[in-house]
Amino acid sequence: LKKRINWVIGFSLFKSKEGLWELPEIVKTYSMKPFLFEPESTILSMLRNDLQSMRMLDIGVGAGRTTSSFAPLALEYVGVDSSKAMIRICRQKYPRYRFEVADAKCMELFKDESFDFVLFSFNGIDCATHEERLKILGEVHRITRNKGLFFFSTHNLNSTWKLYLPKLQRDPLSFVHEPLRIVLMRLVNSGVWQELRTRKSKYLIFNDGAHMFNLKMYYVTPHEQVRQLTDAGFINIKIYSNSDGREIRRHSREIETDNWLYYLCNAVH
Ligand SMILES: C[S@@+](CC[C@H](N)C(=O)[O-])C[C@H]1O[C@@H](n2cnc3c(N)ncnc32)[C@H](O)[C@@H]1O
Repeated sequence: LKKRINWVIGFSLFKSKEGLWELPEIVKTYSMKPFLFEPESTILSMLRNDLQSMRMLDIGVGAGRTTSSFAPLALEYVGVDSSKAMIRICRQKYPRYRFEVADAKCMELFKDESFDFVLFSFNGIDCATHEERLKILGEVHRITRNKGLFFFSTHNLNSTWKLYLPKLQRDPLSFVHEPLRIVLMRLVNSGVWQELRTRKSKYLIFNDGAHMFNLKMYYVTPHEQVRQLTDAGFINIKIYSNSDGREIRRHSREIETDNWLYYLCNAVH
């Protein structure tokens, strides 16, 4: 209960989406025991032997969930985040590595083609507006060397039908929470409801209930995501399922069912 009250107080104080990531409760939530999502483990296994010669940038590093898995293997590792509070925690937890406060839209502190591998995990890119997202893709392209890798995750617009199904669990409270969540989702998204229902858009920014309905998220169809990457100068685009970390194809079931997907691609200059 104390945690819930803290959250509500915290949320009522912050004014912008940027403010959310500075909240102590949010920083604490992301200071979880390090773990990797399945596609991140897939990529780590793939790069395990190459990382020793790679300069890696971890964008939106948060409280460093991915640091202990990647940093010790990389030739050079830098973590950046637009949240000062997140970077403070990273510096405390991992004093051996470099962490900087930087916004992915404008990473002036890095020269062109500075990195061999750029990671933007756990849908951090989805906090941006459409214009900001295109800027981020442009910036990532600029700082990634020719043939360097970009790996990131983003919400899947094809799977939004699942958000409106109650996720009933053994916990009897879920029988109260879930109908309430669905009603709230309908109410807070009244402006985009028609688009959400018809699923005709290529991308949509809406409130999916994350962080107690305090954050709007960008959802994109895989087709549109591939187009955005191609326009930004990336090739060899591969998609990975978040359910089991496998590479998937355009007609795989996961393209319709995974709430978010990981993308791997190469920058070309
Ligand atoms: C969902 S959290 C993920 C944190 C971490 N990567 C993890 O997996 O635990 C998203 C992070 O992205 C950061 N972020 C959001 N927009 C950003 C931007 N434009 N530039 C840099 N960081 C950003 C937030 O501050 C937050 O720490």
